[in-house]
Amino acid sequence: MVDVAPEVGPQGKAHKRVSSSGKTSPKKQKHAKPVHRELLTVAEAEARKMRAVNPAQYYRQNLGQLGFGDPEHALVQTIKELMDNSLDACEAMGVLPEVTVELTATAKKYEVVTNKTKDGGVRAFPVFRLAVEDNGCGVLKGKVAKCFGSVLYGSKFFSFKQSRGQQGLGVHAAIIYAQLTSLEPAVITTKIESDPKAYRVVLKIDTERNSPVVVSSEEVDFPRSHGTRVELMIAGDYTQKVESFIKELSLANPHADLKFTVVAQAGQEPKELHFKRANEILPPPPKEIKPHLLSMEPGALLEMKSNDACCATAKQFLVRHFVRISDAKAEDLLKAAGLSPTSSPKEIDVEALLKAAREGDLMRPPLDVLSPIGEDALRQSIRRIYSDAEFICTASREPWSYRGVPFQIEVGAAYGGKSVIGDCERVKEGVFKSRVIRLANKCPLIYDSRDCLLYKVVKEINWKNYKLPQDEGNLPMAPIVIIISLVSTKVPYSVPGKFAVAYHEEIREQLRLALQSLGRLIQGYISHRQRQEHEQHRQSIFQIYAREIARDMSVLTGQDQELIYNRLMASVKTKKQKARAIRAHGSGTPSTQTPATDAIRSLAGDPAEIPVEIPVQKPKKQQFTLEEYLR
Ligand SMILES: Nc1ncnc2c1ncn2[C@@H]1O[C@H](COP(=O)(O)OP(=O)(O)OP(=O)(O)O)[C@@H](O)[C@H]1O
Ligand SMILES: [Mg+2]
Repeated sequence: MVDVAPEVGPQGKAHKRVSSSGKTSPKKQKHAKPVHRELLTVAEAEARKMRAVNPAQYYRQNLGQLGFGDPEHALVQTIKELMDNSLDACEAMGVLPEVTVELTATAKKYEVVTNKTKDGGVRAFPVFRLAVEDNGCGVLKGKVAKCFGSVLYGSKFFSFKQSRGQQGLGVHAAIIYAQLTSLEPAVITTKIESDPKAYRVVLKIDTERNSPVVVSSEEVDFPRSHGTRVELMIAGDYTQKVESFIKELSLANPHADLKFTVVAQAGQEPKELHFKRANEILPPPPKEIKPHLLSMEPGALLEMKSNDACCATAKQFLVRHFVRISDAKAEDLLKAAGLSPTSSPKEIDVEALLKAAREGDLMRPPLDVLSPIGEDALRQSIRRIYSDAEFICTASREPWSYRGVPFQIEVGAAYGGKSVIGDCERVKEGVFKSRVIRLANKCPLIYDSRDCLLYKVVKEINWKNYKLPQDEGNLPMAPIVIIISLVSTKVPYSVPGKFAVAYHEEIREQLRLALQSLGRLIQGYISHRQRQEHEQHRQSIFQIYAREIARDMSVLTGQDQELIYNRLMASVKTKKQKARAIRAHGSGTPSTQTPATDAIRSLAGDPAEIPVEIPVQKPKKQQFTLEEYLR
């Protein structure tokens, strides 16, 4: 088979030739033969393989980038993508979300060839029937197939507004994963408020064409006046991650009612979890804004001005397409960039313009466009999830911006208590590692914490300053759950799967300051608790000696020993009650009177006269003469 031959090129050098298998044969190059028409150069062989790749094909082959790499991850990711869309659709509709998730293992199996298992190197995962239903805005009949059947098609990519979805990828990736692992199509039932009937479409995604293949469609009844139900058959590995994801989602959305029913293995009894809403207050709706000039990459700006068809002048282009640019500001910027305001947008030198924007005093974007969780709502939410926590606190920063994109940080913590301890990693007997819950646009980030800015900043804080034990550069070693929420018109995710937040100095700084405020609150609580423990210790020591004191006092006073002892103990009790009253009313400093002095007083007079209010001024020394004592 002579399929490789040297050919003398224009510079007198021999081109390397390849067979269709792509292998070269140096020996044969020595005995050059006349060029055969079917022999190809490397470049020609490569050229024959070239073709455009559409996003559906790309993501079918790279589903791992979107969180569908393995059955465990894929199951959580699918639920996350569908629930995110549901909550976004409820937010768009302006209603309190009611989202139900039904996950049922079927008898069908998805087998993965592996060398890890003994029995034939095959691992079988159950195929789950997953249905997520919401009371959101629904999707127009004419848009359903495209919305669910074309990758990178959606309503959020071009809108500069805070939302959970950003890319037009999520549900499509889930549908592609479903059809790859179960061969089953997706079933979408959706109803908009003005239509009397819902519309059901059964579809697959043709990844070669990135277009929907509609298997069937019909009008059906729907139990709600508006909403969407998405049903998929997917291979999955059910773990606790699913439940903790839904719990964290509920934490991030105190106004949402989330119901989850699971049959983890075929034939098992269903398990139900119901996360009721913590309040009935709709968070402020996020507002849409235009992009800020400083958030633009030079390439994107170049493309934008080249494709612009609606603006006659460069000035108009800036005023119309960007936030915070008035006519006067546009003129200043263009002047600084060496361009006339009346010139065509196509003449804009993007690098000069961006330099002028960076050096000029361009105002920050409006910051009141975000929809944070809200400190009160976050506290209610934490209290609902960690109902027995010893201490709950929250802190937040004012909105700020990174590269022209508004964002806001809120943080919270739940300290101590069984439910918190249950969520923390047990390092050894009595020692727990804290847990960090990361939320981006009210959506939990469940994987890749190590690459996430939100997680890294928690480790950067010196928690020892706030009385929490910590090994340097690590999470605090204490039973505490730390919640971090970032909301932004565009969360800077580091990967398309939206697992982690990328580094931005502005976000890092705001988060650091928020965590320090939180740390101070935690420190305040721990100090208070230490004082209490100290006081209890003092009192318990007193109790040990109470009997001896009673005996000696009885000898001195002639009073009944048992009576003195009982009075002493009653005095200890009164002190405890006083301390409790102070704690409940949140005022006062610890008492400096001892149970012994109280007991003596009570023997001397009316015990009811013992003041409950703790004196603020320095207390006088309590001294008694024997006469007073005996009185
Ligand atoms: N439950 C739903 N209710 C209403 N519309 C929906 C629902 N699910 C999906 N959609 C529509 O389908 C589009 C595509 O959803 P998809 O999850 O693929 O992308 P996205 O949410 O826009 O962005 P992301 O890739 O970040 O999730 C959405 O933009 C939305 O318009
Ligand atoms: Mg989505």
